[in-house]
Amino acid sequence: MQVVIRSTKADASWLVAHMVASAIRENPSIVLGLATGRTMERVYEKLVQMHKEEDLDFSLARTFNLDEYIGLQPDNVNSYRYYMNHHLFDHINIDKRNTFLPDGMAEDLGVECGHYEKMIKKLGGIDLQLLGIGRAGHIGFNEPLSALQSRTRDKSLTPMTISENSGEFANPADMPRRAITMGVGTILEAKRLLVLVTGGTKAEILAKAVEGPITSMVSATAIQLHGNVQVVASDSAATLLTGREYYDWIFDNEPEWAEYR
Ligand code: F6R
Repeated sequence: MQVVIRSTKADASWLVAHMVASAIRENPSIVLGLATGRTMERVYEKLVQMHKEEDLDFSLARTFNLDEYIGLQPDNVNSYRYYMNHHLFDHINIDKRNTFLPDGMAEDLGVECGHYEKMIKKLGGIDLQLLGIGRAGHIGFNEPLSALQSRTRDKSLTPMTISENSGEFANPADMPRRAITMGVGTILEAKRLLVLVTGGTKAEILAKAVEGPITSMVSATAIQLHGNVQVVASDSAATLLTGREYYDWIFDNEPEWAEYR
């Protein structure tokens, strides 16, 4: 795992957008794993800008989102399908038929989850998975005690996640209590993980995820099991990391980071 700390949320988001763009340029038919949430908004804004100003080409890209609320229609403003269209897909040259999210309206959720797993495999697996971390320690909606080998399934959300996200709903009580999420095991099968964490409210959970013991109580600690992970954090999110001096040294000296310095 490599950890890169940038001074602001804007700088951290800029770096992640450039890393994603460089992966797309290297492999135009890339399979991207995408996340939603407030953290990713600036990343998508920057990718849209790069599409418009630098011809970043999404025409061959395929995408799979981590999760979707159960019971929201795709055109509901709080659905993750709506979020992705609004923040990214409507503004770039991606073929929407190549953009996949779990169907939270499926009659049989078990069948839908199995189908989602099969689609990921059919397209060759995820090349680059973007991740945020929730304050409950989740990646996707893998709430505490999610098995480290879990697969795509429906999950009940924790009170902390409900209180974190319900402010996004016009009527907070309308927030669904359940979601479909890729499993921790599904996420760990991606060839590369790129994690973005910003803001002081995430400092405690970031320190646990990166430097704490691996435990299903904090699903994000599972990223320590993966061999190709970059974590990008803002200064405010990185305050409780004990290894900062070493992380900064790697970024400042290792040749692979030269293009981003
Ligand atoms: C959403 C997702 C979640 C978020 C996490 C952080 O698709 O996968 O794990 O990344 O809840 O959300 P924000 O960025 O809103 O703090």
